[in-house]
Amino acid sequence: MNTRGENGPILVLGGTGHYGRHIIRSLLQKGQSVRVLSRNAANARQVLGDGAEIVEGDITSRKSVVEALKGTKAVVISVSAFTPRLIRRLRLIERDSVLMVLEEAHKAGISRVVYISVYDIREDLIARLHSDIARIKLDIETTLRESGFNWTVLGAAPSMEIFFAMIRRSIMMVPGGGPPALPTVSPVDVGEIAAQTVLRDDLGGKRIRMTGPEAISFQEAARRISEITGRRVRYRSIPLIPLKIVSMVTYPLNPFLRHLVGMIELMNSFPPDVVTEVPQDHQWLVNTFSYTPTTLEMEARARIRV
Ligand SMILES: NC(=O)c1ccc[n+]([C@@H]2O[C@H](COP(=O)([O-])OP(=O)(O)OC[C@H]3O[C@@H](n4cnc5c(N)ncnc54)[C@H](OP(=O)(O)O)[C@@H]3O)[C@@H](O)[C@H]2O)c1
Repeated sequence: MNTRGENGPILVLGGTGHYGRHIIRSLLQKGQSVRVLSRNAANARQVLGDGAEIVEGDITSRKSVVEALKGTKAVVISVSAFTPRLIRRLRLIERDSVLMVLEEAHKAGISRVVYISVYDIREDLIARLHSDIARIKLDIETTLRESGFNWTVLGAAPSMEIFFAMIRRSIMMVPGGGPPALPTVSPVDVGEIAAQTVLRDDLGGKRIRMTGPEAISFQEAARRISEITGRRVRYRSIPLIPLKIVSMVTYPLNPFLRHLVGMIELMNSFPPDVVTEVPQDHQWLVNTFSYTPTTLEMEARARIRV
């Protein structure tokens, strides 16, 4: 049965998340109706306000997925299990359930799918660092490429939040020191680009890297945040090896730590040749989408106001 709704809502999976909530906001601002599948409707309502339709359910349940897809015209997948509580179900949530969503979307006659992935995926890095998360993203991207969907993959750079999250008592503590330069993006820009992408019909079959205007080091980020906020933030590199040993000893008691260390290693190994492409990736975004890019300075200023 074809249950596709040409005028129906867009379903955002992970719509209450760090990136998802901005995707919802941008879609609503454009007058587009949206639906969110969330495990906790009351929390989703608090996060998203009144604009979005909320279906309470779990992506691991086929029944919930079928209900959420009913009458929708497109799907944005921005779901993540990268939390201490969910990490044991990482593969189930981010891979197996997303594949099930694609299966059910196909049955429902929905063709437009936008998938939020990571900025860049390197087979050699995945193999060297045994990154389950990157492997899962690659599996989904490969499935989309080989499918008949009208798909777009949006490869998100790490959120700019990463610079602020590492500050404790005016010290930016960076395990392993961080790479010489890292592209980051504001969640606001992710929301806007993803919303425009899912509403456009000329971006099918494309993998787009979403980044802010430049790639910078953690030292440089600390310097700029100090300048804007007027409060000195000192950068400090902390060794990764002790954290790695603890993560190995405490696994499987605390599998999250091992995944976290894996993510930090991926970040510290950020490929320099990809960094050199950041200005042109960003220019492409500016030429292709209608938005005002958010800079680190703008993010820092917004935090002073709060
Ligand atoms: N954050 C970053 O810096 C970053 C960087 C690069 C790429 N990405 C990618 O961007 C995407 C979104 O990441 P994020 O950081 O925005 O995630 P997040 O803040 O951790 O949010 C996770 C979302 O997944 C939903 N979710 C988790 N388990 C679920 C389940 N069983 N059923 C239904 N929904 C479930 C949660 O919804 P409820 O809690 O409402 O159920 C929540 O909305 C991911 O693909 C991530 O890999 C993120």
